[in-house]
Amino acid sequence: MKIAMVGSGYVGLVSGACFADFGHEVVCIDKDPAKIDSLKAGIMPIYEPGLAELVASNVKAGRLTFTTDLPAGIDGAGAIFIAVGTPSRRGDGHADLSYVYAVAQEIGEHLQQPAVIVTKSTVPVGTGDEVERILAEANPGVKFAVASNPEFLREGAAITDFKRPDRIVVGTEDEWARGVMNEVYRPLFLNKAPILFTSRRSSELIKYAANAFLAVKITFINEMADLCEKVGADVQDVSRGIGMDGRIGSKFLHAGPGYGGSCFPKDTLALLKTAEDYEAPTRIVEAVVKVNDARKRAMGRKVIEALGGMDAARGKQVALLGLTFKPNTDDMRDAPSIAIAQALDDAGVKVTAYDPEGMGHAAPLMAHVTMRDSAYSAIEGADAVVIVTEWDAFRALDLDRVKRLAKAPVLVDLRNIYDPVEVRAKGFHYTSIGRP
Ligand code: UDX
Repeated sequence: MKIAMVGSGYVGLVSGACFADFGHEVVCIDKDPAKIDSLKAGIMPIYEPGLAELVASNVKAGRLTFTTDLPAGIDGAGAIFIAVGTPSRRGDGHADLSYVYAVAQEIGEHLQQPAVIVTKSTVPVGTGDEVERILAEANPGVKFAVASNPEFLREGAAITDFKRPDRIVVGTEDEWARGVMNEVYRPLFLNKAPILFTSRRSSELIKYAANAFLAVKITFINEMADLCEKVGADVQDVSRGIGMDGRIGSKFLHAGPGYGGSCFPKDTLALLKTAEDYEAPTRIVEAVVKVNDARKRAMGRKVIEALGGMDAARGKQVALLGLTFKPNTDDMRDAPSIAIAQALDDAGVKVTAYDPEGMGHAAPLMAHVTMRDSAYSAIEGADAVVIVTEWDAFRALDLDRVKRLAKAPVLVDLRNIYDPVEVRAKGFHYTSIGRP
């Protein structure tokens, strides 16, 4: 089947490359000519492990092409995915759907053959109805159906997540659209991927509910970590102990500096807005958003405490290791490092930093931070070393070297990747999250 993917950002590109890898003919469309030119030249606009190779092999096989020409790109496609951005709208936190609707309009104006239009972008409940209305108005003659098919890709593991999903969710009330979507995903059924067909509105809500629930899990364990610190318990054990209960599940119970990224912060806010509009408040999610925001800044205070408090901290130097919101990505959106660096700057602390992939995006967000080209050069002269993001490269630092380079042996581990006993045995003053 020919598949058109409108929007060649993170989701569109990963999905398009994976569909091509399944054997479909895929055209990735984007209105940004610079992006399409670099994709044609094999340069990825984002950092995602394995993506460049996957794109290259499918381009070579002739199954994956790129274009800025939407009418040509959708010509003959049986499924047309909308995978453009839905950022938080400035001012009110609602999802900004202008890109989605503009694409729907353009598809409507140029569609010649029967096709299923699939929203892959994360869109609030009811967006599918509006897309359907726009299409029908723009092009009343052609047969089409609108389906919702949310993505559940994690940055850094997106290709595996796409190819081995826990589930595929498709929202449509239309029999023909179901058939088309079955055909689109058939190659995945070999991997025993379950497909859940549901109504369009349920499907749209599933995406938000899933992300909100995961945000709740993370925030819950983060608060347990704070409590652990007060009562002398170990959050890692608490997490293991509750996670072994199949009803709770062990994943997403890793305490840390608070969640960030392109999805959780934006999607929880958008869910709150929908809930408000329908007068069905989701108070748990409201609390989670507040608690998580406050946590990022609180992490800055934790570092200041490790330096000996506000007065002692002024004029000292802190090395931040890892700036991206999580490892294996260059994404800085809502990364805890931003709030931490800001809190340190406000307290008169000098900050040096290193991140394996994120410094390009980080630098403009934290003008006061001095970027260094390795972990060890960031550590040089530091009064405290802070692990903000758990990149593998920071899991086995040469602690003797760290001690020699740093001015003081202070390690603040916001991801609990070191063993307190071992690090303290090396003579470090060590603080982590929720551990005695
Ligand atoms: C998330 C969802 O996992 C994915 O299904 C959805 O499609 C998009 O949003 P992503 O934002 O890429 O994916 O990252 P994820 O690995 O889920 O981590 C999100 C944030 O939560 C990160 O800041 C991470 O550090 C944090 N996190 C995650 C924790 O602090 N503890 C955990 O146990 C898990």
